Amino acid sequence: MQSTFLTLLGLLPVLINAQLSGSVGPLVDYTTKAQNKTCDVTNYGAVADGETDIAHALLSAWADCATGGLVYIPPGEYSMKTAIALKHGQSTAIQLDGIITRGADLAYQMILVRDTSDFEFFSGNSKGAIQSNGEIYNILIWVHDVEVTNGDECVTIESPATNMLIENIYCNLSGGTAIGSLGTMTNISNIHYRNLYMNSADACYLKTNNGNGTVSNIIWEDLIVHGGPYPLTMNEAWGADSGSTGVQLRNFTFKNWHGENSANSRLTIRLECDSDVPCYDITVDNVNLWTDDGDYVYWSCQNAYGSGACLAEADSNAALATYTTVVTVTATPYVQIACGFLGPRLTLTMNDRSHSAPTMAGDLTAAPPSDSPFTIPPMPTSFYPGATLVSTLLSLSAAGGL
Ligand SMILES: *[C@@H]1O[C@H](CO)[C@@H](O)[C@H](O)[C@H]1NC(C)=O
Ligand SMILES: *[C@@H]1O[C@H](CO)[C@@H](O)[C@H](O)[C@H]1NC(C)=O
Ligand SMILES: *[C@@H]1O[C@H](CO)[C@@H](O)[C@H](O)[C@H]1NC(C)=O
Ligand SMILES: *[C@@H]1O[C@H](CO)[C@@H](O)[C@H](O)[C@H]1NC(C)=O
Ligand SMILES: *[C@@H]1O[C@H](CO)[C@@H](O)[C@H](O)[C@H]1NC(C)=O
Repeated sequence: MQSTFLTLLGLLPVLINAQLSGSVGPLVDYTTKAQNKTCDVTNYGAVADGETDIAHALLSAWADCATGGLVYIPPGEYSMKTAIALKHGQSTAIQLDGIITRGADLAYQMILVRDTSDFEFFSGNSKGAIQSNGEIYNILIWVHDVEVTNGDECVTIESPATNMLIENIYCNLSGGTAIGSLGTMTNISNIHYRNLYMNSADACYLKTNNGNGTVSNIIWEDLIVHGGPYPLTMNEAWGADSGSTGVQLRNFTFKNWHGENSANSRLTIRLECDSDVPCYDITVDNVNLWTDDGDYVYWSCQNAYGSGACLAEADSNAALATYTTVVTVTATPYVQIACGFLGPRLTLTMNDRSHSAPTMAGDLTAAPPSDSPFTIPPMPTSFYPGATLVSTLLSLSAAGGL
């Protein structure tokens, strides 16, 4: 069984000003929401017997607490057999202290939260988990202190999305932080990723094939990749043609990346855009990606304009000739490692896996057997080397639990 563990931390109602328009994070403290109304799923038919489908109880509890309250899932083993969408929430929260396991017949996503604001999804005992063999979408405005172990997406952005801060993400064996795949009417803007730690996962995989609309103003900064097959990829020729003329990609910054991919026959940097919709204002700055298994890496650029890597420079208003270039890079990057966050920066010239960028203690070192269940790992106390938690684990604070 291939499994997903999504371990959750408390999201404290701290408003932060990221480089986004406006602030992110819930507006009202979850304790205030809980005092107004608490909807315990076990009062709506949920049974922690590892068998009864929790879906309808969760929907009913949500219906009662969606407009000012807290949905509480107490410790225990629950099963989920029906996919649900939790919609139109306003000033609400979900506290997951138990473990929800995906039922065998459940196709695609388990819980989709949409059209909701002032929302938190957290664990009060730092033991809440979702165990599945599918895909989980985190469609929250502020996603932080999250660890995912699976064989598929880690934190994925789908269209439409705007004003998101995604930080302190630990992807432990997964597809990584993908965007898309995107189709027609795409509208994604103002996304800020920082402190992403990728163990056998890709840090950016943006996938489109034709479609239309735009993706703009995205920053990926301070990333560590260990063994992602395609760590930095924009690919406008991915999968099935979704019709129309192509999605416009504009104003992306990739900054302060360290690490290596798993095979030098694969592209470490791939910025490939459709000739109908060239990509503009792409910046690759201090991106140091090497490989685990060789003495060279490939970069590929196609119809993408900006600075760094193999990008062609261009005025975004000029008429442009199409181009494709593949570069073989034999110079190892001079890897810069931030020594903690307070200390001076060190410049090292070592490039082997153990020295190119810090590793995390909990890293998966070998692929687990696909037919045996995993043990849910303990909650990490950090999600990025040297970074402290955005929010203290609620299991360690007096405010945790109910
Ligand atoms: C309190 O809960 C009720 C019922 O869910 C809701 O109608 C009301 O808006 C909530 N009040 C606040 C301040 O959230
Ligand atoms: C995008 O494609 C869809 C489907 O082909 C079409 O309905 C829509 O008008 C297109 N939008 C733009 C802005 O071209
Ligand atoms: C795209 O999303 C932004 C932000 O939500 C919105 O203001 C804008 O109207 C949307 N554009 C289109 C074409 O849907
Ligand atoms: C490019 O994106 C950055 C970061 O999202 C933003 O601060 C900046 O205003 C954008 N530039 C333009 C010209 O939109
Ligand atoms: C990473 O995945 C492996 C395999 O499931 C697991 O043993 C390890 O505890 C995970 N690490 C973390 C931090 O969850």
